[in-house]
Amino acid sequence: MSDSSGIPFNNPGWAGNTGEFQLTEAQVRGDDYVGERPKEGTHPATAATYPYMLADKDPSAPLFEGPYRERWDKIRSRYPDARSALLPTLGLAQELRGYLSPETMEEVARLLDLSPAYVRGVATFYTMYNKRPVGRFLIQVCTNISCNLCGADEVLQAFLNNTGTELGETSEDGLFTVVEAECLAACGFPTCVQINSRYYENVTPKDVPAILERLKTQGE
Ligand code: FES
Repeated sequence: MSDSSGIPFNNPGWAGNTGEFQLTEAQVRGDDYVGERPKEGTHPATAATYPYMLADKDPSAPLFEGPYRERWDKIRSRYPDARSALLPTLGLAQELRGYLSPETMEEVARLLDLSPAYVRGVATFYTMYNKRPVGRFLIQVCTNISCNLCGADEVLQAFLNNTGTELGETSEDGLFTVVEAECLAACGFPTCVQINSRYYENVTPKDVPAILERLKTQGE
């Protein structure tokens, strides 16, 4: 493969300017979101997998119909190889259904003509894909080395105590799920906690009740 000047492409997987490349963020991810959106102008490819939490998820929603079908068709058209559309397709399925059940992974496999085992292997590799339903606020406490040295275990315990949950469990009101996370790349500000798409830095156990109260009353 070469370009018009005869220079060979190093990456034969590059699709060139085919398909729907000129997409706005809204065309890729739609408008119906809660939480803060990144500024318009970031690359649409990242938008497709950004883990927004819709207020109302529908685990039995069809994959994909209506506006979601339109968005998926556009995403799919950007990849000559169906397998390459797997990550944004999983992202769209999670956005719609809230998490990726084994059944959802199988449906995605059928959509992209892949084996269920392959889809499952990819989906379970990335922590940004929820394999179980999560609460309205997914609280990810970094317990990796820097945060751990600065008391991340106590912060994690404070979130569990104050939400009345066990690790990975969702609170009865459906609001909170607390999980451990690997390094969130904010090691200079331990303990770092990611709540949905927002970082909270230098968190100590005594900050936890106020953070939860703010989430309840003002959202993310
Ligand atoms: S170790 Fe917690 S952000 Fe890096």
